Amino acid sequence: MSMQSVASPAFTFTPPKRNTLTHIPGDEGWPIIGNTLAALADPKGHIEKQAERFGLLYRTHMFGETSISLLGPEANELVLFDQAKLFSSTHGWGSILGLLFPRGLMLLDFDEHRLHRRALSVAFKSGPMKSYLAELDTGIAARVAQWRAQPGSMLFYPAMKQLTLDLAATSFLGAGIGPEVDEITRAFVDMVAASVAVIRKPLPGTKMARGVRGRKRIVAYFSEQIPIRRAKGGEDLFSQLCRATHEDGALLSTQDIVDHMSFLMMAAHDTLTSSLTSFVAALAANPQWQNRLRDEVTGLGIASDEPTTFDNLEAMHFTDMAFKEALRQKPPVPSMPRRAVRDFTFKGFAIPAGSMIGVNPLFTHHMPEIWPDPDRFDPLRFTEEAQRNRHRFAWVPFGGGAHMCLGLHFAYMQAKCFARHFLQNLEVSLEPGYTPDWQMWPIPKPRDGLRVTLKPVA
Ligand code: HEM
Repeated sequence: MSMQSVASPAFTFTPPKRNTLTHIPGDEGWPIIGNTLAALADPKGHIEKQAERFGLLYRTHMFGETSISLLGPEANELVLFDQAKLFSSTHGWGSILGLLFPRGLMLLDFDEHRLHRRALSVAFKSGPMKSYLAELDTGIAARVAQWRAQPGSMLFYPAMKQLTLDLAATSFLGAGIGPEVDEITRAFVDMVAASVAVIRKPLPGTKMARGVRGRKRIVAYFSEQIPIRRAKGGEDLFSQLCRATHEDGALLSTQDIVDHMSFLMMAAHDTLTSSLTSFVAALAANPQWQNRLRDEVTGLGIASDEPTTFDNLEAMHFTDMAFKEALRQKPPVPSMPRRAVRDFTFKGFAIPAGSMIGVNPLFTHHMPEIWPDPDRFDPLRFTEEAQRNRHRFAWVPFGGGAHMCLGLHFAYMQAKCFARHFLQNLEVSLEPGYTPDWQMWPIPKPRDGLRVTLKPVA
């Protein structure tokens, strides 16, 4: 992001001059590129090295700007819970997502954010959630049946990506979306890919140019559909938003629905693909846990052609814990940016207004003093008792405070529904000696797509 003044409906401020930050310990790396390459090559290793040298607060320079990393549960609580309304998400996430997902919920701040979050939350109440579960359940059951019919070796990550996309088409847009479905999902995939592209300008031939084109198509589709959905929409998430109102009873504007829908689909897509892939990878590498979860699913006593209910999901305690552990090891949002709107202090250091701030779930989730033997997959870290004795911001895959993930229950629902069908039908394993290599930033994914072997359960 450039060093000019940034304006929002609520604030105008200027990023601090570099020399006002030099009292903060840190190493800004090479001229211009700073630490960008080192951080991209090994995000976890890099941040652990910096923390070892400088402690839980340090200055760095990445992606063209000096920023301050605040690490550990206390930092997460300060920044995410943000009781003093010190941190802007608009001006933290804006430079990454602002061009393609402007005014998505996560990119709004404070009072405006609260109003929109309240309006959107109707789409996540238990009535609508039940209808999404029905769509997810049908879609997952059908895909798992296909996998069961063609057992053997498969690349799991692309298969999961496709499944999540297909599920979003029905639960987010409605089963009757029709022949446009492929075009819309392609436009959407281009937008998501562009949001994490290295080249940030829409130059011809770049991901960003495709993303901007995709956004135009999506905007046109949603705009044309809104009056139709208002007149005779179904129970899908899009139709829910078309009917959602602000506190004064006014419907959300067309532009608001377009912005919220685009953002919601993006927020759900890569995070679910990443977390379900790391969940399955962990079960493949830990057969004793895979069997334990399969026993739990079998114990539900539902025939394989019966639908999954909310009560079934509630009863899947080990699955819940194992999914949480997968989210600990590979948080789909490994770091979260904010910008300080006022001066503040942390660990005795004064940090000026305008500073770019980063908190880091990936680091916190591997602090050995909180998570002994942090690389070991151990869902028992999430028993009620174990959680009671832990800082409430030690595990933050869904963030916390005002911006805490609105789709958290949707994510658990999809993960457990998937686990139910997958484990009831298939056994998953890795080739002996194969250790998948993960790219951890911007969203964790296995570099080679994760090769697994599937075998039908007798
Ligand atoms: C395992 C899956 C998911 C993970 C790990 C995840 C993680 C997160 C995190 C960390 C944030 C907060 C970021 C910040 O404070 O800077 C967030 C926000 C959000 N997520 Fe998720 N997410 C997941 C799935 C979903 C799904 C399925 C949906 C929608 C159906 C969704 C919708 C949202 C929305 C709307 C926000 C913005 C909330 C706000 O600003 O008030 N997420 N998510």
